[in-house]
Amino acid sequence: MAVQTVKSLFNRKNKIDGLTLLNSIDTETVKVAFFDPQYRGVLDKLSYGNEGVSRGKARSSLTQMEPDTIIKFINEINRVLVPSGHLFLWVDKFHLCQGVLEWFLNTDLNLVDLITWDKDKIGMGYRTRRKSEYLIIFQKKPIRAKDVWKSHNIPDVWTEKVIKVHPHSKPIKLQETLILATSDENDIILDPAAGGYSVFEACKNTNRNFIGGDIEYGED
Ligand SMILES: C[S@@+](CC[C@H](N)C(=O)[O-])C[C@H]1O[C@@H](n2cnc3c(N)ncnc32)[C@H](O)[C@@H]1O
Repeated sequence: MAVQTVKSLFNRKNKIDGLTLLNSIDTETVKVAFFDPQYRGVLDKLSYGNEGVSRGKARSSLTQMEPDTIIKFINEINRVLVPSGHLFLWVDKFHLCQGVLEWFLNTDLNLVDLITWDKDKIGMGYRTRRKSEYLIIFQKKPIRAKDVWKSHNIPDVWTEKVIKVHPHSKPIKLQETLILATSDENDIILDPAAGGYSVFEACKNTNRNFIGGDIEYGED
């Protein structure tokens, strides 16, 4: 049964569970989705000295997502994306190496590309120090690039410093560039775990309609 996208959720910071938000979105209406899950295992793997106690405090206090929850988000994103629409999934190096494809088994989404985000800022790490994150690019069937991916000068390593408004703020200019490449003005762009709302900022700068929210950040 088709659900009616609740118009009052557009272009605002919704404090809402991402699955509830997704449930209110019509099937095959979203052109582009960004998903930046609050991974659970990562905090343990990236722990550096007493990071979990002090440096990681802001991060570890965020609501984390279990794999089952992440799969539910991905299945719903699969439902709301238009055919040939894109999902940009943020991952850390551990998920990149261990693989995320089992989360996509029951979807029409296929891995089509990868961008490395160079934060231009050295972070912490038990062995090497973190300086990058990764954006895995999925496309819903049918897979095609012609007329759907409109920019051909985006490098697969992208350097951008962010001003943090959230412990996991993502680069606005990169997200803006990807939105411009894969959607048109007034298209709907989704971010169901929006944190500091970097995707909303990217939508304002590109005249796209944003639908997104966060369980902890936003307005009721
Ligand atoms: C990695 S952060 C997102 C950062 C964001 N991309 C940015 O640029 O600021 C993940 C967010 O997911 C949120 N979150 C966790 N569980 C959620 C849920 N069930 N529904 C919506 N948001 C959730 C957390 O509160 C956290 O802010």
